[in-house]
Amino acid sequence: MSVASLPNCLSFAVTAPSIHNTQPWRFDLRGDVIDVYADRNRRIAGDSRGRQLTISVGAALLNLRVALLARGQRPITRLCPDEDRPDLLARIVVVGRTRAPYGARRLAGMTGRPGRHIVQPDGPVPQSMLDELRDDARAEGCELTVYRQPLPDVIRGFRPAGISPSRWPAVFTAEPTTVVLSTADDDTTAWLLAGQAWERVRLRAAAAGVQSVLMTEPLEHPALRRYIGYGEPGRTAQAIVRLGYGRPAPPAPRRALADVVTVTRNSSGPSAHARGPATLNGAASRS
Ligand SMILES: Cc1cc2nc3c(=O)[nH]c(=O)nc-3n(C[C@H](O)[C@H](O)[C@H](O)COP(=O)(O)O)c2cc1C
Repeated sequence: MSVASLPNCLSFAVTAPSIHNTQPWRFDLRGDVIDVYADRNRRIAGDSRGRQLTISVGAALLNLRVALLARGQRPITRLCPDEDRPDLLARIVVVGRTRAPYGARRLAGMTGRPGRHIVQPDGPVPQSMLDELRDDARAEGCELTVYRQPLPDVIRGFRPAGISPSRWPAVFTAEPTTVVLSTADDDTTAWLLAGQAWERVRLRAAAAGVQSVLMTEPLEHPALRRYIGYGEPGRTAQAIVRLGYGRPAPPAPRRALADVVTVTRNSSGPSAHARGPATLNGAASRS
């Protein structure tokens, strides 16, 4: 893989959403290997386990996979590849060229980046779209379930930046669709899967004009987690996602690539890797 082709892919990776826009990621390039690290200095207070940080890195990882595929590069992704290095959250190895899948090109075309605020909700999201989003979440190893109960008031209290207090309850009550993203486990790998699933859902929805807002902070509270604990028994809710039609807010600024990317030349990294499909279908392999 040419290092010259990577800045575009990484530029797309760092457009990913992150908790409080902390952008808690680092990328190290060595030949055809891209290591994706957590930057734990950027963990927010209240995220004691690093769950929300890891979901953020998962979102950037999805974008990187999509960008590589869109450029005809065939990535194989391994999550948590080295248990002695817990900050190394993923390793992508580019194993050759492939025909760029249409889906990846379409998602990577979302470079204008949809904003995250649903303003002026207008009608419910159709079931056909929810079915597509559920399939996207499943392809990344997660479940997406429509949440039909009223959200508890305490969750309504998690008002996103950029929306005035007076508008926030209105946004919530008028909002047509709330879904819950859940995983089978509740560990670093599960959080990475949730981040990838969320970003894939977000891009797919945005391509159809549907805006989405992710909420993960309320789920740090065990009681709320139990309350929301929706979907199959034994699953863990990782995020509440609100979907709707509306005017997107402009994106927030991102850190410069030079601040998050290191390039190591003369790779002596691993050369043997598991083979896998070159489409977006199929979740990244678990370690
Ligand atoms: C794990 C996680 C949790 C988030 N929680 C919220 C939230 O509760 N409310 C919200 O409005 N946005 C939330 N976001 C979106 C971020 O605030 C947003 O990505 C960041 O501020 C940058 O804004 P932009 O993506 O619109 O450029 C979350 C994103 C992630 C990855």
